[in-house]
Amino acid sequence: VKVAVLMGGWSAEREVSLTSGRGIAAACRALGHDVTEIDMDRDVAAALTAAAPDVVFNALHGTPGEDGSIQGLMDILGLRYTHSGVTTSAIAIDKELTKRILVPQGVRMPEGVMVASEALFVQDPLPRPYVLKPVNEGSSVGVAIVTDASNYGNPIGRAVAGPWQAFATLLAEPFIAGKELTVAILGDEALAVTELIPTTGFYDYDAKYTDGLTRHQCPADLPAQITAACLDMALAAHRALGCKGTSRSDFRWDPDQGEAGLYLLEVNTQPGMTPLSLVPEQAKYRGISYEMLVQRLIDAALE
Ligand code: DAL
Ligand code: MG
Repeated sequence: VKVAVLMGGWSAEREVSLTSGRGIAAACRALGHDVTEIDMDRDVAAALTAAAPDVVFNALHGTPGEDGSIQGLMDILGLRYTHSGVTTSAIAIDKELTKRILVPQGVRMPEGVMVASEALFVQDPLPRPYVLKPVNEGSSVGVAIVTDASNYGNPIGRAVAGPWQAFATLLAEPFIAGKELTVAILGDEALAVTELIPTTGFYDYDAKYTDGLTRHQCPADLPAQITAACLDMALAAHRALGCKGTSRSDFRWDPDQGEAGLYLLEVNTQPGMTPLSLVPEQAKYRGISYEMLVQRLIDAALE
């Protein structure tokens, strides 16, 4: 099969995507496919046309790449590609829009508010502790947890810079104490629940991509009904959004609140495929090697 692996680009997750893409390209070669690696730039349409692939393996993360724009270009070029299509991608990349689809379906998600970033210098949008995040980034880029100890968002501490400064609007959500959990969907099946236990702080960009900074417990040691609820919610979210191939839903669970303390935070339609990423790890736990995972995604795109 002629596979074009599309990676890189200019999102904040460029480096993550290059790592995913190189792993996927190596797996494709090991599987005997004819591989072209494409680092997305403004001439990507010409590069895709020249490669004339049977299938494009979309290894992009973030905006653009995970947001429906490249999917629209590939639709127009008549190319088949892995992962979700235009509408699903455009909704799922936006954490606020995702809620408008999933909450009416009964998926519990934190109730957030959108705030202009300048407004944060005047007033807290929610009682502390709360989380500030850009609506359409991945890998925790620009995420901050505002606690009583933080002095941004405080009228007295106006001059203090935050990691969210580059964004005009931000999503503020109540911070959910407890555990960070994730569930991968492959095909139409929820694979497992993993608990992420960072050694310090929260599961931020460094904790995600630095070996040894986060312990991954797969399967997570949880009450059976919480495991079942996570698997069900991830599958419900995948189906409600119309995800294709794979997706990964991220959760917080506050054990003090029982099942009512389980919240889905977001659905990732282009989950990481790096050596420390969670979809390959859960696949492996279920007996599916990295190469088999790559092949399953190619097969799904060619169906
Ligand atoms: N945004 C990163 C790649 C992930 O969800 O795995
Ligand atoms: Mg994400």
